[in-house]
Amino acid sequence: MRLTILGGGGFRVPLVYGALLGDHAEGRVTEVVLHDLDAERLDAVSRVLAEQAAGVPDAPRVRATTDLDEALRGADFVFSAIRVGGLEGRAEDERVALAQGVLGQETVGAGGIAYGLRTVPVAVDIARRVARLAPDAWLINFTNPAGLVTEAMSRHLGDRVIGICDSPVGLGRRIARVLGVNPREAWIDYVGLNHLGWVRGLRVAGRDQLPRLLADPTLLGSFEEGRLFGADWLRSLGAVPNEYLHYYYFNRETVCAYQQAEKTRGAFLRDQQARFYEELRDPNAPALDAWNRTRAEREATYMAENRQTAGAGEREADDLSGGYEKVALALMRAIARDERTTLILNVRNRGSLSALDSEAVVEIPCLVDASGAHPVSAGPLPGHATGLVCAVKAVEREVLAAAESGSRATAVKAFALHPLVDSVNVARRLVEDYTRVHPGLAYLRQR
Ligand code: G6P
Ligand code: MN
Repeated sequence: MRLTILGGGGFRVPLVYGALLGDHAEGRVTEVVLHDLDAERLDAVSRVLAEQAAGVPDAPRVRATTDLDEALRGADFVFSAIRVGGLEGRAEDERVALAQGVLGQETVGAGGIAYGLRTVPVAVDIARRVARLAPDAWLINFTNPAGLVTEAMSRHLGDRVIGICDSPVGLGRRIARVLGVNPREAWIDYVGLNHLGWVRGLRVAGRDQLPRLLADPTLLGSFEEGRLFGADWLRSLGAVPNEYLHYYYFNRETVCAYQQAEKTRGAFLRDQQARFYEELRDPNAPALDAWNRTRAEREATYMAENRQTAGAGEREADDLSGGYEKVALALMRAIARDERTTLILNVRNRGSLSALDSEAVVEIPCLVDASGAHPVSAGPLPGHATGLVCAVKAVEREVLAAAESGSRATAVKAFALHPLVDSVNVARRLVEDYTRVHPGLAYLRQR
């Protein structure tokens, strides 16, 4: 079984490899091909993986290449975890947006649109190559903004592309823990778009346990999302939102906090990772040790500004271990070995959410087996959630249209229609400024 990782020189690749190292069963991944544009980063990450594999007799073989087509040929699974424009691009996305008084987060608001506009053309090129060179492969998309990028790829790969994110699983796990419920025995009624979903219920043996949580301020104060949103607001909503909804419900405060921060998240990670790759230029540097240290710091500072505005304190130890590699491995196992399971994934809607058309990629519980991921039909969203989901999906569609046509006016429309962009004039200035700083947006022409 061969797994190809696009963005193979990326910082989070060792997480995936670590998960593979724990899988000794028949049908496991035996070969990993890393692809990246940057040979030096490939070398650095390969060294981390080699140290991880030490002493594991059945560790998957690792090969690295900068040739995309060669990386794709013969792949059974392709993970796409690319970052178009690098972390420098992410920092620019934030800076430009904040200068206009709006949010520049990589997946939410203006920043997410800018990142999407840069990434979609590259993702579409990859999808076309996969369709041609590895037509039977499954593509697992980690690349943010994950929902939008998955939808762009699905136009070429159909249901063979599946988007993943660890936020919903993390949220479900936290709620289950607080309620004293085994997450494996709970049905988590989570639905929405990527980074824009809500847990509406958590059923154990048919009984919804969420009302018990919503009624108890102490329980609500004992986990990340409870502290971020506050007990009163969660009770008003009657649901627990994905942590990324903090940027919507507390937009003014989060924009302010980001404007005042010493460094934005992208700038922090840009500098932090530059140090990591620099450290590994020394051939004798302990690679895994440097990676572990860097990762711990990244995890501890995740969404720090949001927690600060909410007075939510530090992250809990249990929340620092990530988890997206576990979702990825569970998904691959289910498909490759027909191990039937349920996972929250980004797939085409196909009637599961009545407010959206069937081609719209949504984030929803899916039954997964050898035939792929099948969304489970979800009850209708409450009005407030329908409003946001439909508005943001409309924005995503404008981003896809702009990427296809190269129309600048369509790009302006995408920014202007976003609920977190408060004026058409702001949208115009965002397109001006983003096209000035990002060479990857040169395709947006004046028409
Ligand atoms: C969460 C999100 C991902 C994001 C990751 C890292 O897991 O769901 O989409 O990539 O955090 O965020 P960071 O700010 O550290 O890049
Ligand atoms: Mn995510």
